[in-house]
Amino acid sequence: MNSSPAFLNGEYVPLKDCKISPLDRGFIFGDGIYELLPVYENKAFYLDQHLQRLQRSMAEIRIKNPYSLNEWQSLIENLIQQSDHDDLAIYIQVTRGIAPRDHIFPQATQATVFAMANPLPKVAEEQLQNGVELITSDDIRWQRCDIKVISLLANILARQDAIEASAAEAIMVRDDHALEGAASNLFVIRDGTVYTHPKDNLVLPGITRDFVLELLDELGIEYHEQVIPKEWLYSSDELWITSSIKEVLPATKIDQKVVADGKPGELWRKTYDLYQERKR
Ligand SMILES: Cc1ncc(COP(=O)(O)O)c(C=O)c1O
Repeated sequence: MNSSPAFLNGEYVPLKDCKISPLDRGFIFGDGIYELLPVYENKAFYLDQHLQRLQRSMAEIRIKNPYSLNEWQSLIENLIQQSDHDDLAIYIQVTRGIAPRDHIFPQATQATVFAMANPLPKVAEEQLQNGVELITSDDIRWQRCDIKVISLLANILARQDAIEASAAEAIMVRDDHALEGAASNLFVIRDGTVYTHPKDNLVLPGITRDFVLELLDELGIEYHEQVIPKEWLYSSDELWITSSIKEVLPATKIDQKVVADGKPGELWRKTYDLYQERKR
């Protein structure tokens, strides 16, 4: 049984003791949002940005934020203190609460707030040395991929297809554009320039994505936020995926085709090294 520190509706309870009603709209409808933030050496990484995105997700689906900024900060701080680990993944979920099953928003229902602190999974050395494999997948998600909603079925199906094809991630393709991964953002490198999809309704505005763009500025590497034709995936010099868990990970194969010389690229190495330096 997992006894990671957790928080449920105002109380700190070990994860194994958390209980939620089956009438919670998160369970019944997937009616909620979430956030995931990394903690390095007991310090939350890009906390303000994660809390801003959490606030935006709630506003977009019209859940009233139940806590002030200070309350969110101390919730996270308390989970960090209660954990035995120094590097953590903090997961936060807010749903529209418990109510008789009905599509219509319930009146006067309290949002359910759940959070847990788990050890941050380490990126495998082998993936950094050799890069990972990707597949492409038809993007069957809805039109509001910019909101971090808990209803992730399309992402789960795509990710499972990737795993069953011995790949690490699925790249979502819509209208012949390569958008992002099932749980990561995508960067495509051609002739020394980095491309990533703009922050519109079709991708999640990744905190790691923004951090990597800052690092590229610092390194003086040119980048463009623009749509990426699917064919570019097969003629690129480098491919990277980014997320709070994966950080910045090189991909060396896509749809079984080798990317460039099949090794993690030079620009990835520079960006990755600066990432490691900055995050501590
Ligand atoms: C669909 C999707 N895109 C991008 C990301 C990366 O976001 P972040 O860098 O904030 O972890 C995630 C993270 O879970 C995701 O689910």
